[in-house]
Amino acid sequence: MGNDLIQITSTADTPQEQVGAGLRPAPTGSCEKAVTFFIETFGCAMNVHDSEKVAGTLVARGYRAVDSHAEADLILYNTCSIREKAAGKVFSYLGTLKKAFRNNPKIIGVLGCVAQQEGEAIFERAPQVSLVCGSASYTRLPDLLEEIEHGNRRVMGLDLDTDECFETELTRRDNPFRAYLTIVEGCDQRCAFCVVPYTRGPERSRPSDKILDECRRLAGEGYGEIQLLGQIVNAWKDPSSARLTFAELLGRVAEIPGVRRVRFTTSHPRYFTPDIVEAIDSHPALCEQVHLPVQSGSSAVLARMLRGYTREQYLEKIDCIRRARRAISISTDIIVGFCGETQEDFEQTMSLLDAVQYDQVFSFKYSPRPNTAAGSIEDSVPEEVKAARLAALQERQRQIQIGTNQALVGQVFEVLAESFQPRLGQVVGRTSSNRIVNFPGTPGEVGQYLTVRATSAGPNSLVGEKL
Ligand code: 5AD
Repeated sequence: MGNDLIQITSTADTPQEQVGAGLRPAPTGSCEKAVTFFIETFGCAMNVHDSEKVAGTLVARGYRAVDSHAEADLILYNTCSIREKAAGKVFSYLGTLKKAFRNNPKIIGVLGCVAQQEGEAIFERAPQVSLVCGSASYTRLPDLLEEIEHGNRRVMGLDLDTDECFETELTRRDNPFRAYLTIVEGCDQRCAFCVVPYTRGPERSRPSDKILDECRRLAGEGYGEIQLLGQIVNAWKDPSSARLTFAELLGRVAEIPGVRRVRFTTSHPRYFTPDIVEAIDSHPALCEQVHLPVQSGSSAVLARMLRGYTREQYLEKIDCIRRARRAISISTDIIVGFCGETQEDFEQTMSLLDAVQYDQVFSFKYSPRPNTAAGSIEDSVPEEVKAARLAALQERQRQIQIGTNQALVGQVFEVLAESFQPRLGQVVGRTSSNRIVNFPGTPGEVGQYLTVRATSAGPNSLVGEKL
């Protein structure tokens, strides 16, 4: 598998495509003006982290990060195509960009899932784009950039059949407290609704020794919180001879001196085993939080979605989490209006909300995606029905969260202060269970772990006071 499928095309043979000179980054330490770049990121935490790695790669080549499109010579969009709306956004942004910088053309790249999905067609739809690169080809970025630097204006990296991970120490992390760390890339599940296997390629796990080395380095750099990432994080399989299980890996990361919080996202119910709950119970640094997307409460719909579990099997996993000694919060993703979803199926999803009492739910209307198994089936639930179901589900969940959050009033939490809102004089912090807590404080407290008592609660956050 691998490199032979990488396409690096250099079709900049017409004068129109040779827009001025190529980008020429200044050698590090030189006083030449550096080429500037700005990355705009859409979508999931994996995309956010990919952008951090891309930014690191660019900086190492002598490029300089800036804070706006206007200041940038090179603008990169790291895109999401999970739902049609997200994918469409990119083209409207590209149009706006073209108008805004008509007299001062920029070099523009499209990265990530839309790049992979649309491929060369992007150059037709948006001729101002010079670089199209899917996430499975990021290891090729230095080569692709070199092409651009030489003035080529149509450069592509669209290899999907890869066994490589985008491993780089050049990452430029944006969050000073929480370090994202990819442990498994791609996805082999092929859920009927999901475009990810077609945009991120096959599942590739990183070896435990490399992951642990990187965690130690991050802890040494002062990151108290580490968030392990994977499209299906608990499908991680140790390719090294240590053969750690996912739960063992969690335990090892949690034991690293300096690591105070470990989160992991996203777990698939199919691979969610009791040893993960045992690990959380026995390692205080493992956060009291599990994100376990269910997608639907109806076994019939789950079967059509090719999720690999029934409602009952999912509820057994929930029971296992609820039996833990620690109060583990549970969040989920739900799709309403999947092909053929009846009112009865939907009622089952509503009753699942009551049964589980989730702490947070991310809910979406089904959106057919290209290449997927369901993409070729009729999108049979009318838009108005999808909208009504989504609204009903969100209202039911709001009521549940008011209840669960209110039950926490009076309790005391360790809160990581993450930001300060000067207008309100409030610190915004987060509990181990991923709840947001607002409380009076000072900007100097940002980055500290504080003890806070919840004094009141809304559906989405708590209000507290420091002890
Ligand atoms: N339509 C709507 N929602 C989707 N998701 C994934 N694919 C689709 C789709 N085609 C949702 C799922 C997933 C989350 C990241 O996005 O709930 O867990």
